[in-house]
Amino acid sequence: MVSNATPLPQPAQAALTRFPIVFADGVNYSGPLGAAWAPGRVNLIGEHTDYNDGYVLPIAVDRVAAFAGRARNDGIIRLWSAQFQAMAQFSLEGLPTTFEQQREGLPGWARYVLGVVSELSGKGIPLSGFDAVIGGDVPLGGGMSSSAALEVATAYACALFSVDHFTIGAEGATLTPMQVAAVCQYAEQIASGVQCGILDQAASCLGQPEKAVLLDCRSLDYRYLPFHAPGLSLMVIDTGVRRELAASAYNERRKQCEEATSMLREIILQHEPNNDTAGAISALRDISQGQFERYGGELLAVLRKRAGYVIAEDARVLETVKLLEANAFEEIGALLWQTHAGLRDEYEVSSVELDALVEIARQVQGVLGARMMGGGFGGCTINLLRDSAVEPLRLAVEDQYPAQTGRQATIDICRAAGGPGFVRAR
Ligand code: GLA
Repeated sequence: MVSNATPLPQPAQAALTRFPIVFADGVNYSGPLGAAWAPGRVNLIGEHTDYNDGYVLPIAVDRVAAFAGRARNDGIIRLWSAQFQAMAQFSLEGLPTTFEQQREGLPGWARYVLGVVSELSGKGIPLSGFDAVIGGDVPLGGGMSSSAALEVATAYACALFSVDHFTIGAEGATLTPMQVAAVCQYAEQIASGVQCGILDQAASCLGQPEKAVLLDCRSLDYRYLPFHAPGLSLMVIDTGVRRELAASAYNERRKQCEEATSMLREIILQHEPNNDTAGAISALRDISQGQFERYGGELLAVLRKRAGYVIAEDARVLETVKLLEANAFEEIGALLWQTHAGLRDEYEVSSVELDALVEIARQVQGVLGARMMGGGFGGCTINLLRDSAVEPLRLAVEDQYPAQTGRQATIDICRAAGGPGFVRAR
């Protein structure tokens, strides 16, 4: 076996076992059986900052999307989704030109795979066809970026099945992990229509056990911070609400941030004609809190709220970095409550269900902080809490959430885990 030394996650093992059962029709394979996987993520702090060229602080979690399969002699890709119990098929021929047309015939989950394959083909990387079983234990649509995990796992599967033409690694490889993240970000955009930033895909590509990643979404520089918190847990609570209107609201927020940026640039230039750097303002990242306090009042109310949230959130991420280095988890918790308030009142991407979960958590002793996580309107909350508060929070959610919302929540404890991996029979 050849592997990059990560222990084999259970969904990869399960997919390897399923492969010969699902694909038993005697195709002539050109390579051995192999598996590739990539993790989902939580985001400690830094929400809706990625597409504003700001900072994020995600953690890859111990949940993965996994492929197990074999390279084919032709340009066909056949996929069996263990989660959806469904088959999908497309062709490498003509990609990326045939993307739109092939996308139409595919179920949602397979569109992400097609998106990645199409983006890789567009870069001129010669890919092999393959058959694969796809499995995973990232809750689907539950706010831990199951789609990013699937995209990144797709890229690693393509490298595994096209081993002579395509490698992922440090310098000298076809693509670095960060370049894979960018490919997968575009794949998500074309597959889903959401003009997402790079947070989810980068978090999946860069994961390391017991580490959070501080990513500068402008330069794409990153550094690891210890996320080793004895006696503390990270709990993800899924509202059970899927984000139907989220794509248009997300794209609208992104546009509002761009509008706020160009208006603030004009306002600052008017007030400070000798300010040499103002002309180069190209994202909310470039506006200081002081400038926002001075000039934010000149923006339309809605733009002022959006920009105010993003500028404060970037500052909270950098503050969290200092606090993490000092193991000051109580203070980090306080920032999480603040982020939730900003997402609810200024960015306006929360929901009744997300607010209910955060308020339930606030009443439980030993919860240091909680907030909605991800794009918003549904999905999940992230809760930083003492181990002793895990059971009390679970009970409080079971007791109060259905009564308040008419829904059931799902609770998960996550650990900071490694990034993508693969294993291949020689
Ligand atoms: C979604 C997007 C990310 C990011 C978050 C909000 O998860 O995919 O790029 O913008 O929302 O922080």
